[in-house]
Amino acid sequence: MPQQPRLRPATPELGLKPNQAGLAVPSGPRVVLGVTGGIAAYKAIEVCRRLVDGGAHVQPLLTRGALRFVGETTFSALASEPVRTSLWSEADPIPHTTLGQGADVIVVAPATARLLADYAAGRSNDLLTATLLATRAPVVVCPAMHTEMWEHPAVQENLATLRRRGVHVVDPESGRLAGGDVGHGRLADPARIVEAVLAVLAPSDLAGLEVVVTAGGTREAIDPVRFIGNRSSGKQGHAVAVAAARRGARVTLITTAVLPAPGVHEVVSVVSAAEMHDAVMGRAATADVVVMSAAVADFRPVTVADHKIKKADGPPEIRLEPTVDILSALGHNKVPGQIVVGFAAETTDVAAHARAKLTAKNVDLLVANDVSAPATGFEHDTNEVVIYGAAGSETSVPLTTKEGVAERILDAIADLRLHSPPPQIVKSQPSTQESPPKEQQ
Ligand code: CTP
Repeated sequence: MPQQPRLRPATPELGLKPNQAGLAVPSGPRVVLGVTGGIAAYKAIEVCRRLVDGGAHVQPLLTRGALRFVGETTFSALASEPVRTSLWSEADPIPHTTLGQGADVIVVAPATARLLADYAAGRSNDLLTATLLATRAPVVVCPAMHTEMWEHPAVQENLATLRRRGVHVVDPESGRLAGGDVGHGRLADPARIVEAVLAVLAPSDLAGLEVVVTAGGTREAIDPVRFIGNRSSGKQGHAVAVAAARRGARVTLITTAVLPAPGVHEVVSVVSAAEMHDAVMGRAATADVVVMSAAVADFRPVTVADHKIKKADGPPEIRLEPTVDILSALGHNKVPGQIVVGFAAETTDVAAHARAKLTAKNVDLLVANDVSAPATGFEHDTNEVVIYGAAGSETSVPLTTKEGVAERILDAIADLRLHSPPPQIVKSQPSTQESPPKEQQ
């Protein structure tokens, strides 16, 4: 029975949709971006741009201090609304309640020591502090200041107060500070800030789950310099891992790719099918969900030359042997309640091959894509897939970003968990290096 596509995605869709005039307008969440007066205010421009590019509706709100560092025009040009700066100079007599009530999230980047103190004390003395007090939306603060200020007990106590009240804090990083100093207190990287905002907006429907994701194409050595590989970039697998972490899962990503994986608990780098097999099998027993996005080699050379094969010796004869089918091994040894998801990269008869793999490998969901279609599959930033379920469901995901496809795969996993028996998975002892709370990732 074909499964109806969800009417409303579980995650705010950070995409563009046409308005009545046919123009692309943001359909995503309303973000109030507060900027206070610190040298790092220039990085807020990048945060603004990334949020807008992702489809968010961004309202910049600059303090008088911020205006000493960055210009209104830059933000007004990049954001979705003109900059707001004052409680008094607007046509709206109550801008703080309008902004506070309309926001899906408020992010303050950079947040100075003064802003943290005012917010913790409940002191309203400008449009930003008034808006922070007049909202029930989640708030993300991104402190930035000199090391001495950051380490001052007053600042740390104000932050502890804010954390206790549920405010999300993106901790600063170490590096170069204003005036040539080097130390802790530098504003978090804009990508980390945007990731934290997305994590706050995302549903927590995978909270508490252990999810193992594989990504990239394996390489099977022929000699010390040559290998048999494939064109998988790892982008789709990384997108699944990052989105799962955002939705609350504790994610282990086993990957051949060197790509960012913000929020992921553990990244395990592997090269060959055998390494991937060992890494997956060592972790699968306690996983609630395993997603095999990797393009694993089906065959590998029987022997690997220990020296570079020389051209003068003539064309080598390379004998191949099969690798272990990891997905099949997982599917046939599932812990009750565990969800195993496979992929199928096809170039012909996609539906028939995908259904055959779903059954043969005994998986719960199979994500099929036609890797020969334009803008789909290997190396592209976009993908178009059909998600087949073991119970007969079939969900088409039209051409979209790989992040969009990742969300739909996770929607399917979340739906399946709602209808599957409680897992009998014996958890490993909690590791000493626990996943950081969502807001700190
Ligand atoms: N897979 C695996 N181990 C292998 C080969 C594939 O776990 N040795 C997994 C992939 O990660 C993917 C699924 O099996 O989730 C399907 O991979 P695909 O290459 O599409 O199919 P194959 O089973 O290899 O069959 P074929 O190459 O003939 O299409």
